[in-house]
Amino acid sequence: MSCKSEYPMDDGIPILLPSNLDKFKMLDAEFHSNAADEFAERNMRFSYRVSRYHEDYLSCFFKCQNSAVILEVGCGGGLEAVRLKNMGITVIASDIAIGMVKTARKRVNDDGQTSHTIFVVCDAEQLPCQDHSLDGVLIVGSLHHLPAPERFIAAAKRALKPGGMLVIGFEPNRWPYYTVYPTLRFFGRLLHPRRCIAPGEASVGDMETTGFDADDFDRFLKAGGLEKVSLQRIWYINGFIQTALAYINRERPVARLLDLPSASQRALVACDDFLSRIPILRDFCWHWTLIAKRPQEHHGD
Ligand SMILES: C[S@@+](CC[C@H](N)C(=O)[O-])C[C@H]1O[C@@H](n2cnc3c(N)ncnc32)[C@H](O)[C@@H]1O
Repeated sequence: MSCKSEYPMDDGIPILLPSNLDKFKMLDAEFHSNAADEFAERNMRFSYRVSRYHEDYLSCFFKCQNSAVILEVGCGGGLEAVRLKNMGITVIASDIAIGMVKTARKRVNDDGQTSHTIFVVCDAEQLPCQDHSLDGVLIVGSLHHLPAPERFIAAAKRALKPGGMLVIGFEPNRWPYYTVYPTLRFFGRLLHPRRCIAPGEASVGDMETTGFDADDFDRFLKAGGLEKVSLQRIWYINGFIQTALAYINRERPVARLLDLPSASQRALVACDDFLSRIPILRDFCWHWTLIAKRPQEHHGD
């Protein structure tokens, strides 16, 4: 991508994608654009057992100055963009799916503009940002949609200022892909032998991924030259609950999705937080949140 190139606009949103975007990314973008209107609601992003963990990692931006600029990659329906702009931070909300960026813009505008928010379509692996220009990069539930996550880490490092934070939230752990999901697929085939997933019915990113283990993150950071700040473990019992609810709700309209009462959600979160402290078991979380930073550069060392 080059500054000398011209890029199209869609309804005021710049489309900063290379002309040779690969098929995998085009399919994932198309799926998410079509799913954009109901994505946050259908994935129960407003439930306490989900949102509590989003608050955890957003809190690492609390100390940012009002002049801070944060790029959100794979912003989806814009929930984090709303939270960040309400902290007074300038947000660049980006996604590869134009439908998602439009949904995010609507959510931010409906909430009321209190700080500057910019909306763009771009690919996580080719961030259209100047070197050392960002105070933070946030990517939530989107790293596993990328064919080469290490390319995104390298792009994020290039764009971050020294000391800038990279937050990778809610990325799937590997073990369910070798245990829970094959078992569910096996029983699914027994119950519905004729059923097959039609093209466009699911995200190719979700279908192809096999999640990450803790070593993957260490490898990505080492290759990208970033420092690990923390690796949080998210969901134990809640992972099974979410999987069961997704199955029960799969054909229900968004306005009638079933969820647990708020008090049980709080009890489950407390229970999962306790499980995350038990050695060995703690690594069988369903998701990870990684916080890393670009090291300060010490000249003359
Ligand atoms: C599971 S959704 C997560 C959305 C949002 N962050 C959330 O937490 O609800 C994954 C998002 O990543 C986006 N995505 C997939 N591939 C991408 C890529 N190569 N570059 C940027 N975004 C991408 C999708 O369009 C989708 O909005």
